[in-house]
Amino acid sequence: MAQVIGVPRETAAGEKRVATVPEVVEKLVKLGFKVAVQSGAGEAANFDDPSYQAAGAEIASDADALWSAADIVFKVRAPTPEEVGRMREGQTLISFLWPAQNPELMQQLAARKATVLAIDALPRMLSRAQKMDALTSMASISGYRAVIEAANAFGRFFNGQVTAAGKIPPAKVFIAGAGVAGLAAIGTAVGLGAIVRANDTRAEVADQVVSLGGEFVKVEYEEEGSGGGGYARVMSEGFQQAQREMYAKQAREVDVIITTALIPGKPAPRLITADMVKSMKPGSVIVDMAAEQGGNCELTEPGTAVVKHGVTIIGYTDLPSRLAKQASTLYATNLFRLTEELCKKKDGVIDVNMDDDAIRGLTVIKEGSVTWPPPPLKLPAPPAAAAKPAAAPPAPKGHGHGASAAPMPARATAIVFLVGALAFWFVGAYAPASFLNHFTVFVLACFVGYMVVWNVTPALHTPLMSVTNAISSIIAIGALIQIAPPLAAGAGAGRPEAWIQWLAVVAIGLTAINMFGGFAVTRRMLHMFRK
Ligand code: NAI
Repeated sequence: MAQVIGVPRETAAGEKRVATVPEVVEKLVKLGFKVAVQSGAGEAANFDDPSYQAAGAEIASDADALWSAADIVFKVRAPTPEEVGRMREGQTLISFLWPAQNPELMQQLAARKATVLAIDALPRMLSRAQKMDALTSMASISGYRAVIEAANAFGRFFNGQVTAAGKIPPAKVFIAGAGVAGLAAIGTAVGLGAIVRANDTRAEVADQVVSLGGEFVKVEYEEEGSGGGGYARVMSEGFQQAQREMYAKQAREVDVIITTALIPGKPAPRLITADMVKSMKPGSVIVDMAAEQGGNCELTEPGTAVVKHGVTIIGYTDLPSRLAKQASTLYATNLFRLTEELCKKKDGVIDVNMDDDAIRGLTVIKEGSVTWPPPPLKLPAPPAAAAKPAAAPPAPKGHGHGASAAPMPARATAIVFLVGALAFWFVGAYAPASFLNHFTVFVLACFVGYMVVWNVTPALHTPLMSVTNAISSIIAIGALIQIAPPLAAGAGAGRPEAWIQWLAVVAIGLTAINMFGGFAVTRRMLHMFRK
């Protein structure tokens, strides 16, 4: 029996988003589900009831009807106590939940014997999870909207202009924190024509800032800011001091500051002090995107915009909801992708498979028992670790299978080397001289090829595959020479034996797979970067 996906109207004050949109309803129906949408659920995001009906949804007159009909509930905001009260045994809820911050809510939900998937608990580092990553889609919307809010509050153009009335310099924008939201803000501000600078504690984002047209401003203090999984960590007092000095200088120079700095599970780092605000030019704007987590600016008032020392400080906590149609569409698509993972059979019934890493990470309550936090993910070791033999564990003694990945002991290497040298001597002593020439080239080619491929990190194997096209063409040319009739020769003279020709045919076949496969892969890769 097909399960019913229910989409209630969001009840949080000011929330305009909705958890599904008509376009996605159609896709959910194709997966075999029935969809019920509460009347008026999409109104604030510009989706009316008839558009849901046209896409195949049923309209539930009120929350009671919706919650009792639904087997699976899609929501944006974490459920209110009233909504928790509506949940029944066996029902599944998928929404933002923040389990670490809401232990009480977790207990209440577990008591309803429901299954709960927290979209914010998705293991984002899994590449398979990217299509379901609602944190990323909401953060990019927030970053965009933060710039629009700043431009709205700022009394000047963002781009420089030369007019008959005079020359207008471009606005200077400083972005603190270049994660998903920060990068979106950089792209938007650059697009509006501003001069954009950005800073982050994770040095690896510098290139991304530059590639978007921004300038990365470094803190003059050597310290690694990466806390694992692409996230930041709390920095030392020395670093923070140096960072404050740099931020104070930026505050005096720029017109707009957008702060996005967050550290998972910690209050937002305080980056902009009251003195820095005072030092800004009157009419400047600060958008504090970390307002909900305590704010990056000392003077932020979460949820509202205030003017202090002549500077507008915007602390809105509903930035994605301010672009409700766009945010709902992206969120609905993230949930659809998740539903696809939950319903591989496309039969309209979900299977919360706890052996699947992505689903395991999301599932915070399974049939009434709390399953959060999930066990740590087993991710492949980062390539840098493999490149440092000194950090590798000592090779185990003995010859068990488990030792296969460990470096070869010196004696074994010596034996392999000796056997190889003997075999080479044997070939040299007995084979014809012409064969030896080819054989030497062949052995060297194998050795160089092995060393090149083996030293490339697995993440780069796809681009490597397209590069090997060039090598494949050398093989193809060699094989074609073997097959082709000799240019100036009498009947059959100089023509290789039949078995060599057949070998060449096989070589052409195999190398063609590599060549055309390589082109196909290259094409797909280029397609990924096309707009
Ligand atoms: P976030 O919202 O937790 O933090 C925002 C930014 O603030 C981060 O770039 C962080 O480094 C920075 N920050 C923290 N403390 C700071 C300080 N004191 N001063 C300056 N900057 C500070 O992070 P977000 O945007 O959710 O993700 C961060 C990164 O995680 C992404 O840039 C990406 O590299 C990685 N990520 C990877 C994914 C994947 O592998 N599929 C998916 C999502 C994110």
